[in-house]
Amino acid sequence: MTNVIEQIHQDHVNMARLLNLVDAEIDKAKQDGMPDFLMLEHVMRYMTNYLDQVHHNKEDAMFRRVVSLDPQAKDAVKDLLLEHEELKSTGRQLYDLVCAAQNSDFVRREDVISQGTDYVRTLRTHMGKEEGDLLARARRLLTEHDLRDVDAEIDSIHDPLFGDTVEKEYQSLYAYIIAQQESVAEARQG
Ligand SMILES: [Fe+2]
Ligand SMILES: [Fe+2]
Repeated sequence: MTNVIEQIHQDHVNMARLLNLVDAEIDKAKQDGMPDFLMLEHVMRYMTNYLDQVHHNKEDAMFRRVVSLDPQAKDAVKDLLLEHEELKSTGRQLYDLVCAAQNSDFVRREDVISQGTDYVRTLRTHMGKEEGDLLARARRLLTEHDLRDVDAEIDSIHDPLFGDTVEKEYQSLYAYIIAQQESVAEARQG
C-alpha cells in the first residue's frame, strides 16, 4: 500500500481537480449563468464527508510525527491545524448553500460566488503550504518505521470517489470527471 505521505499527496491532486470543477461553476455564476448545483453538492459532500475527516486525520497523525522529529515545524503545524478547523466550517457552509440551491430554496448569487471563491482560494493556499513545507519535511525525516507507526494510528478508510471502487453516491461525479478529462485530452490532440 502507498505510504501515508504519498496518500496525502494523491488526495491533494484529487482535491485540486475538484477545486477546478468548483471554480468553473463559480465562473458560470459570475457570468450570470446557472451553476451545476447537483455536481457542486456532490463535490462538497465529498469534501466535507471524506476529506475533512479522513484526509485531515492522516495529516494530523503525520504532522505530529514530523513535529516530534523536527520541533521547528511546530508553528507551521499549528497554523495548518487551525486552517483545518476553518476549512471544515466554511466547507460545511458551502455544502449547505449548494444543497439549498439544488433544493430550489432561495440562494443569493453573490453568496455562491463569495463563499465558493473563498473556499477554493483558502484550500488551494492550504494545500500549497502542505506540499511545499510539511510533505517535503516528512519525506526527508520519516523513516520506514515512522511511516508504519503513522499508518497504524490512522483508520484505513476507502476513498469513495477516487478509490478502487466508486461508491454509488459518487458515480455521476466520477463520470463527469472522466468526461472532462477526455474532452481536455481531445482538445489537446486537436
Ligand atoms: Fe490539511
Ligand atoms: Fe491536505
